[in-house]
Amino acid sequence: MKHYSIDEIQGWERFYRANFVNSLSGFKPVSLISTINKEGIPNLGVFCNIVHIGADPAYIGFINRPIDAAPHTLSNIRANGLYTINHIHPEFIAQAHQASAKYPEGVNEFSEVGLTEDYKADFVVPFVLESQVQYAMELTEIIPLVMNNTFLVVGKLLHAFLEPSMLSKDGFIKLDEASSMVSLGMDAYYTTKPNVRLQYAKPDRPAAQIDC
Ligand SMILES: Cc1cc2nc3c(=O)[nH]c(=O)nc-3n(C[C@H](O)[C@H](O)[C@H](O)COP(=O)(O)O)c2cc1C
Repeated sequence: MKHYSIDEIQGWERFYRANFVNSLSGFKPVSLISTINKEGIPNLGVFCNIVHIGADPAYIGFINRPIDAAPHTLSNIRANGLYTINHIHPEFIAQAHQASAKYPEGVNEFSEVGLTEDYKADFVVPFVLESQVQYAMELTEIIPLVMNNTFLVVGKLLHAFLEPSMLSKDGFIKLDEASSMVSLGMDAYYTTKPNVRLQYAKPDRPAAQIDC
């Protein structure tokens, strides 16, 4: 295979380099993050840098770009500490992608992109009705990453909504059956197909396959 040094990569044209680096770390769990501003007007954003932080307590984080580039999700979360994360499926990929557009503050992005607000569980922030896997989060910590002015936003899981038929008997969620999409780079979306589940690895035996 060919060697690409960081000096060579840094010499590339800006968008070519961004596509290369954004793809390099692999497929990402792409979702819509919904928030509300002080007036209760909902905002949507597409987020793929979503990461599991811990299972007990259940913490999930995401990376927010510099505030000038992506101000609304972060300022709404700072204001009221609540947000929902909603998986994206092929049926509404165009509408979801449109939510990454920079609409002015105060524009209801659900109506703008053609998705439906879903209010439930006494949660003030809407879920995305079209999404088959939805969860509600409460802000725990915003950690500024000073080297590039981004933020790691960590929240605590409060509610989750999905069909029980997606659940395996051991609690594993078969997201491929919901056609939850993953993304690559900033513009490519994929559906997934399962390969294998393997037992917890231990030094003294090969991990056996797990049935879903
Ligand atoms: C596929 C895809 C993935 C994205 N992932 C992120 C992300 O992880 N973090 C981020 O800050 N913006 C991400 N964006 C850009 C945001 O969707 C965009 O800035 C959005 O409008 C959020 O801005 P707002 O919070 O001001 O509404 C992504 C866009 C696309 C199309």
